[in-house]
Amino acid sequence: MSLQIVTIVGARPQFIKAAPVSAQLRQYHQEYLVHTGQHYDANMSQLFFDELGIPAPDVNLEIGSAPHGEQTAQMLSAIEKILSSQKPDVVLVYGDTNSTLAGALAAAKLNIPVAHVEAGLRSFNRAMPEEINRILTDRMADTLFCPTQTAVAHLHNEGMTAGVFLSGDVMYDAALHFAEMAKDKSDILQQLQLNERSFILATCHRPQNTDSADALRAIVAALIDCQEPVVFPVHPRTRGFLRHSGLLESLQQNRHIAMIEPVGYLDMIQLEQHAKKVVTDSGGVQKEAYFFKTPCITLRDETEWVETVEDGWNVLVGADYEKIIAAIKHFTPPQQQNDHYGDGHAAEKIARHLQEFYGVH
Ligand code: UD1
Ligand code: UDP
Repeated sequence: MSLQIVTIVGARPQFIKAAPVSAQLRQYHQEYLVHTGQHYDANMSQLFFDELGIPAPDVNLEIGSAPHGEQTAQMLSAIEKILSSQKPDVVLVYGDTNSTLAGALAAAKLNIPVAHVEAGLRSFNRAMPEEINRILTDRMADTLFCPTQTAVAHLHNEGMTAGVFLSGDVMYDAALHFAEMAKDKSDILQQLQLNERSFILATCHRPQNTDSADALRAIVAALIDCQEPVVFPVHPRTRGFLRHSGLLESLQQNRHIAMIEPVGYLDMIQLEQHAKKVVTDSGGVQKEAYFFKTPCITLRDETEWVETVEDGWNVLVGADYEKIIAAIKHFTPPQQQNDHYGDGHAAEKIARHLQEFYGVH
C-alpha cells in the first residue's frame, strides 16, 4: 500500500537531502512537499530545485526570516493547517533547522507519526539552536533514520531504541550521485581560473562565528593572512555581519580572496573536490570534504560528525586565528578512511523502511 507522506523542507541543506530521498519516495509513495520559505533567495533555494531535479514544492509557505520563536511559530501554525487538510500517514522532516522543529511539532500535536532523517546527531552544545531542534525532533519522532552508528549510540544513550534505524547518510547518496554530473555541468573552476588543489574553499555561517565580532574578525584575518588563494561563497547571514562590522571591505580589497555569492550544489561539490583544503563551520561541508578526501579545517570547538575527526581528515580549530593559519599551512590527514556514512543507498532504505513501518494498517 502506498503511503501519503508530507515532507517539510525550508533551508539549503534540506533541499540537498531531499533530492535523493524524494526521488526514491516517489517510487513507492505519494509525497506532498512543503517548503516553509525559511530560505528564499534564488541562490539559497530555487537554484537547488532546478539543478538537482527536486520536485517543485506543492506549497511554499513563504515564512521568510524572523527571530527564532516567531519564525518557528509562524511555520507551526501554517504547517498545522496543511496537515489537518492533507491528513498524511507520516510527516518526514530533515536535519535540525527551525523548519524541522516546526514540522515535527505540528505533526506530533495532531498525532501524526513523524519520521526524522538525520536523527541522533549531537554536538552536546546547547548554545547551538540546532542542538535544541535535534533533541526535540528526535523526542517527537516515531522513526529515527540515523546517518551513522554514532548517531544510533547517542539515541540509545538517551533511552531511545524503538524506531531507530541505521540508514546511512543521504548526503553521501547526493554527493556520489551528483559528483559525476558536476564534472560535466559546472564550469566554476574555469570561471574563477582555479588550478587543481591550489586554493582554499571557505564557508562560514554559524551564529557563534558570524554574530560575534571577535570571532568573525579572527576568521577573516586568518583568511587574509594565510597567503593562499581563497574562494569564499558568502552565506547571506554572514554578508550582513561582515558589512555591519566593516570587514566586508577588507575582504573585498584582498586580491587573493574571491568573495562570491552562494553557489549551486554542482559548483560547490566541484570546488570541494578540487580545493587544497576546506575551511568551514558547515555540517554538510565537513562531510563532503571527507567524502572527496579534501582535508577539512572546522571553525568550531566540537562537531556532530566526529568520525571525520577520528579518522584524521578534519581538525577543530574554533575561531582561533593562530590555529586556523597553522592548520591551513600544516594540517595533513592520513591516507586511510573508513566506511562511516553508508553505501550510497540511504534514500532507498528510507523509502522501503517507511513502507514496512507504516504501510500495514
Ligand atoms: C539556517 C539553520 C542552520 C543551517 C543553515 C543552512 C536554523 C536555526 N538555522 O541558518 O541550522 O545550518 O540554515 O544554511 O534553522 N537570509 C537571506 N536570504 C535567505 C535566507 C537567509 O538573506 O534566503 C539571511 C537573513 O538575513 C536571515 C539570515 O540570513 O535573517 C539567517 O537565516 P536563517 O534561516 O534564520 O538562519 P541561517 O543562518 O540561514
Ligand atoms: N552549499 C552549496 N553552496 C554554497 C554553500 C554550501 O551548495 O555556497 C551546500 C554544501 O555543499 C552542502 C550544504 O550546502 O551540501 C550545506 O549547507 P549549509 O552549509 O548551508 O548548512 P549546514 O550543513 O551547516 O546545516
